[in-house]
Amino acid sequence: MKKNIGLLWATAVATVMGISSANAQVKVPEEITTLMNKYTCSACHRVDARLVGPAYTDVAKKKYTNEKIVELIYKPVPANWPGYPPMAPMTQVPKPDALKLAAYINSLAPKAAKK
Ligand code: HEC
Repeated sequence: MKKNIGLLWATAVATVMGISSANAQVKVPEEITTLMNKYTCSACHRVDARLVGPAYTDVAKKKYTNEKIVELIYKPVPANWPGYPPMAPMTQVPKPDALKLAAYINSLAPKAAKK
């Protein structure tokens, strides 16, 4: 009997893990995760959910150029996001890294725009 409970547990854990990894549809490249953590973006942003700041998928919908996103990282415009607290300027992010983050955010834009 004890053995069976152990087996049940193992099955339950495997199932839960299977479900959660299946749900993780947004696969963030490791380099991007590293940068987001390094510059603390991840403290306020999730890829596909509102946290302190907007989801990156929502930022992507604004169709900024990569350059424009870099500019907004250095000099946020809180008026673009009513209902959110203002983001602090993140001028410590070197431009090449900011561009990588911007390109990643834009890569989340909906592919075929429905007409
Ligand atoms: C302390 C919380 C916080 C941190 C840290 C933070 N953000 Fe934000 N971010 C926000 C909030 C809140 C907004 C919406 C209000 C605003 O734009 O000022 C926002 C908005 C944005 C926008 C949208 C700009 C616009 O005008 O549409 C981008 C892009 C963005 N953040 C990227 C980043 C990146 C990249 C980092 C890391 C380098 C970062 N954020 C770090 C809170 C944060």
